[in-house]
Amino acid sequence: MTPSSTITAFPAPASATRKRNIIAVASGKGGVGKTWFSITLAHALARAGRKALLFDGDLGLANVDVQLGMTAQRDLGSVITGEATLAQVAKPYEGGFDIIAGRSGTGMLATLPASRLLSLRAELQLLSQNYDWVVLDLGAGIERTVRLLMGHSRACLVLTTDEPTAITDAYAYIKVTAAEHLAESTQIVVNMAANQREGERVYGSLLRACREFLKLEPPLAGIIRRDDRVKDSIRRQTALLTRHPAAEAASDVESIARRLDQSR
Ligand SMILES: Nc1ncnc2c1ncn2[C@@H]1O[C@H](COP(=O)(O)OP(=O)(O)OP(=O)(O)O)[C@@H](O)[C@H]1O
Ligand SMILES: [Mg+2]
Repeated sequence: MTPSSTITAFPAPASATRKRNIIAVASGKGGVGKTWFSITLAHALARAGRKALLFDGDLGLANVDVQLGMTAQRDLGSVITGEATLAQVAKPYEGGFDIIAGRSGTGMLATLPASRLLSLRAELQLLSQNYDWVVLDLGAGIERTVRLLMGHSRACLVLTTDEPTAITDAYAYIKVTAAEHLAESTQIVVNMAANQREGERVYGSLLRACREFLKLEPPLAGIIRRDDRVKDSIRRQTALLTRHPAAEAASDVESIARRLDQSR
């Protein structure tokens, strides 16, 4: 990412009175669990009685629908071609929340011009007013498309695991997005932690780098333990909170959802 490609123009939402309730889920490195976490977070918020929308914002490799084994008749692609509005493609999922599915692998969404992405984001901001929370599952990395989509979020949850590359890339993500003020707050989620202590160690090393080089102290949103039942539920294309509601990873995400919801 070169400085010349940083984003400077971020139009503010039309009305300052709008509530900000979009939670962006991001990471530097891929495969750290964003999509699974986004699904489970939306599900946990729904189970806590909140009206939640999950937006598949991984414009290149959308796979919320794959993890949940659902076939969306209309998805973001239909919005881009003008066949449907964003509100029309928001489909209720059995977990009690709505989903806007992406379209994977066509390249159609990944190559959208900035102006189209900004109007998509504006439409999402409007739609978000019908919900208590919107969870935005982003693609990995710090590409412009990812940053354009997450602008004006209430919070950006940056996921990392204990892998050094995941921690370094999370740091890079925080550095770039903080410089552009893309979200009201950035928080860290450590996923696939062996245990609480190990998760705290990972958070500690990321926090030290943020303090030292960025003068930032992103808080810890939570630690999610590594749990084989996550893989099992994904393999069976069923939400974890449906298949294994008592799993450790499920209760870790529920704690994060509770804390976020308390900040409402
Ligand atoms: N807490 C966990 N315990 C065990 N396995 C996990 C956990 N979280 C995620 N995983 C595993 O990580 C894999 C990747 O998850 P997921 O697809 O959600 O990551 P991602 O960050 O969205 O990836 P991408 O960057 O490609 O979009 C899952 O298939 C699952 O097997
Ligand atoms: Mg993903």
